[in-house]
Amino acid sequence: MALDINKVRQDFPNLAARGRDNMPLIYFDNAATTFKPCEVISRTHHHYCQRTSNIHRGVHYLSEEATAEYEASRDKVRRFINAKSLSEVIFTKGATESLNLLARSYGAHFLKPGDEVLLSTMEHHANIVPWQMIREETGCVLKVAPINDQGEIIVDEYRKLLSARTRIVSLVHVSNSLGTVNPVKALVKYAHAVGAVFILDSAQGISHEPVDVQDLGVDFCVFSGHKLFGPTGVGVLYGKEVLLESMPPYQGGGDMILSVTFEKTIYNRLPHKFEAGTPNVAGVIGLGASIDYVTRLGWEDIIAYKKDLCVYGTKLLEGIEGLRLVGTAANKAPVFSFTLANAHPHDVGTLLDREGIAIRTGHHCTQPVMKRFGIPATSRASLTFYNTREELDLFIAALRKVIKVFS
Ligand code: ALA
Repeated sequence: MALDINKVRQDFPNLAARGRDNMPLIYFDNAATTFKPCEVISRTHHHYCQRTSNIHRGVHYLSEEATAEYEASRDKVRRFINAKSLSEVIFTKGATESLNLLARSYGAHFLKPGDEVLLSTMEHHANIVPWQMIREETGCVLKVAPINDQGEIIVDEYRKLLSARTRIVSLVHVSNSLGTVNPVKALVKYAHAVGAVFILDSAQGISHEPVDVQDLGVDFCVFSGHKLFGPTGVGVLYGKEVLLESMPPYQGGGDMILSVTFEKTIYNRLPHKFEAGTPNVAGVIGLGASIDYVTRLGWEDIIAYKKDLCVYGTKLLEGIEGLRLVGTAANKAPVFSFTLANAHPHDVGTLLDREGIAIRTGHHCTQPVMKRFGIPATSRASLTFYNTREELDLFIAALRKVIKVFS
């Protein structure tokens, strides 16, 4: 059954908001963050109106209810990504914190001088900078798998960079600036063949296609709630239990301990060992609601619908003279990064905003990608399943107006 797009759009109240100067809004900035369906908003609202309390601590009714909902969300995440156990699902404040946790806990603990961490040119800064920080401390070496002119990892080069020295491979699932969908399963297989652990940055991927951590074989996987139609300030770190068990805690504080004396602290079991302090209770509950929503819509329909938007949008953009699409991978998400002859992306973004169209411009926290393509920035329209072909038509018409201004 195909998506009922009118009904889907009604589920997202923010789609009815107005843009600048009261223009009808076209929201094409979904790679930055997604809108939230009513049930995410109402479940979060319900927590704050009816269930505000701390979790894992109270014997009173509100605390028990909030704890049950929080832990129910953990199970929703577990099922959504097919993790083996609840111990493997850690709540963090987002993909960035999950990657920092991995670098600081796994990286700093296990990396020795000369050990290698393999990244790719298309990584988000959040999957580069934490490893550079750990390099300072451990003396490990960062290697970078190159990408081709379409914005795809060159798999032969990637394989050449893998060796017995490679301890960690940390790669993006779907590129936020190029839209490339990486062949995760094959990349994992090659990493495991040399004994490296594989970290998947699925910040964009988690809303693009199903992530089955067991089928993919990844050792760790990170994502944020707010790019999966959930609240900001909440994210997930998935890790194989045996690896999480071997890692020291990332932060100390309440809830991550079993007992504390001034002489010695005994840490809590997984997953609590990595969840120090009061977590984002409402955020986690909201994330559970967003997973319910996506699951109900169904991946098959979501994928087919987005594929159509991707093909349709690519065709329209290819028809514009002077427009260069940056990121033309064979397998890609509807993320359209482009440059226009004679127009700076920031000016393009500003003029589109005057037409009520929200896109992102800049380097998208992927400066090495910009360097690879010899450009300072792109304009980026990123679409999801509540966008439409009609919106793409309006976007192209607005873009033609912008081009006229600069010609
Ligand atoms: N990483 C987010 C983006 O691509 C913020 O816009």
